[in-house]
Amino acid sequence: MQHEYQDIIVSEVSDGVLTITLNRPEAYNALRTQLLSEMASVLQWATLNDDIRAVVVTGNEKVFAAGADIKEMAALDAVGVLNDPRVLHWRTIAQFPKPLVAAVNGFALGGGCELVMHADIVIAGDNAQFGQPEINLGIIPGAGGTQRLLRTVGKSMAMQLVLSGEFISAAQARDFGLISEVTIPERSLERATELARKIATKPPIAVRQAKEVLLKAYETTLDSGLSLERKAFTLLAATEDRNEGIAAFMEKRKPNFTGK
Ligand code: HXC
Repeated sequence: MQHEYQDIIVSEVSDGVLTITLNRPEAYNALRTQLLSEMASVLQWATLNDDIRAVVVTGNEKVFAAGADIKEMAALDAVGVLNDPRVLHWRTIAQFPKPLVAAVNGFALGGGCELVMHADIVIAGDNAQFGQPEINLGIIPGAGGTQRLLRTVGKSMAMQLVLSGEFISAAQARDFGLISEVTIPERSLERATELARKIATKPPIAVRQAKEVLLKAYETTLDSGLSLERKAFTLLAATEDRNEGIAAFMEKRKPNFTGK
């Protein structure tokens, strides 16, 4: 990676996958502005780097992220919150067009749980705990936690988490569709990386179109979602990778996707 970071560790690209490790263990990986800004800048760089086909984000074995940095947040009045640059960083993360896979162990709370919801696929160790405890601080989730959570887990569980501040386990999170798989904690990063590597072998334009269209399902009607799907499907018929994929199937060989 280009330069040194303070709050994250960025791996070398390996098999098309870049790994970002949240690295503020002393503050339970609290998402201060510095951390979010570093993450946003890496994702912007990764967007333009053709060697990167998927990104994995992880924390440590005890904590994914315990939320916004409460100490930093304490200094902000309403105008400070209004002008908070973190909003832009969150937007950059949300708009990352390539697959983002999260490997979560331990606490994923507040902004940490919201970061989980920005990921496209989430694998969690069985020690993971998810929650939106902002209510205990007299606030509410502020990085999409009310909207994405309700669309993901449904009304009753979203209300339960946001209003009571209670945490749920990895198994519950899986049952509610917040995450897709539970592993032993030692395996979550490996499994997330395995998936990211597999995705990295797929035709990248199709992967990107699939992510874009799938995410639209959150915010559009079935009719316009289906229309978007049809347009993306049509667009892909113009790619070399689509011809290669079909030819490889016919010729009973492995496809060689070039991203064109
Ligand atoms: C800053 C934090 C922190 C946080 C933990 N720490 N969470 N610092 N912001 N969100 C720090 C503690 O101050 C402490 O450092 C160290 O990490 C360890 O925390 P402990 O509380 O001593 O550990 P433990 O007893 O194991 O409890 C773990 C915990 C608890 C349950 C995760 O730390 C906790 O409740 N944290 C806050 C979780 C939370 O409310 N998150 C939502 C934040 S609001 P020191 O140096 O003091 O010992 C939010 C809004 C999002 O996320 C809006 C986005 C725009």
